[in-house]
Amino acid sequence: MLRVEDIHTYYGPSYVLHGISLNVQEKEVVSLLGRNGAGKTTTIRSIMGLTPPREGNITFLGEKIARRPPHEIFCLGIKLVPQGRQILPTLTVEENLKLALLKADLEGSQKETLGRVYEKFPILETRKKQPGGHLSGGERQMLAIARVLLGKTNLILLDEPTEGLAPLIVQETKDIILDIKKEGVAIFIAEQNIKMALETADRHYIIDKGKVAFEGSGPELTESRDVMESYLGISA
Ligand SMILES: Nc1ncnc2c1ncn2[C@@H]1O[C@H](COP(=O)(O)OP(=O)(O)OP(=O)(O)O)[C@@H](O)[C@H]1O
Ligand SMILES: [Mg+2]
Repeated sequence: MLRVEDIHTYYGPSYVLHGISLNVQEKEVVSLLGRNGAGKTTTIRSIMGLTPPREGNITFLGEKIARRPPHEIFCLGIKLVPQGRQILPTLTVEENLKLALLKADLEGSQKETLGRVYEKFPILETRKKQPGGHLSGGERQMLAIARVLLGKTNLILLDEPTEGLAPLIVQETKDIILDIKKEGVAIFIAEQNIKMALETADRHYIIDKGKVAFEGSGPELTESRDVMESYLGISA
């Protein structure tokens, strides 16, 4: 459903992605692994239209999306959960969700839609009157994910969802990802936590210095000791 072909992305004069190609199929969970500064966020920003690639093509459900504005890409059903879970700290949990509903331009009653969110994330209902800024890291992650599930969502881009979370919350986040996967939504997840990637994704890419260094299944990855060591710093 998503096809990224030989994209080259820059921040001003700084050349960051040197020809990345990858794809995500319908209902698939795909991970993007790589060290700090490898280009994971830049890949996600390129797909979402936030830092458009200077060269190369991106198609989604057969439509060209490279260099189209982010809101158009959003309307096609690609939703971003950014690194650092940027929720609005001064708005309450419920206000954060209502704003996402507005953006998603949803039909149907707000109450019903919010009800479904609270069913999936009960913790958000108990916290609904609290400002987003008062939530714990895990709760912010839930809110950030809940927001993107409102409205039409075909593909979720998750940028390092477990960064800085306690192990128990990492586990909870993993369960939520598997839950969303069961519903048939495709997920592209940038991670440094290899365990998390192996437990959630069907297929993996590793990027290094803005290039794809590996592509394969979980077993292919764990069996490639060189790859694990060179690009992820994991020695077997
Ligand atoms: N706004 C920016 N302006 C200039 N250079 C940037 C900018 N953002 C990132 N870079 C550079 O681009 C390269 C790739 O960064 P990117 O954020 O995509 O890496 P990452 O894989 O997401 O890393 P991390 O795991 O730390 O989030 C790095 O060398 C980084 O310094
Ligand atoms: Mg990043």
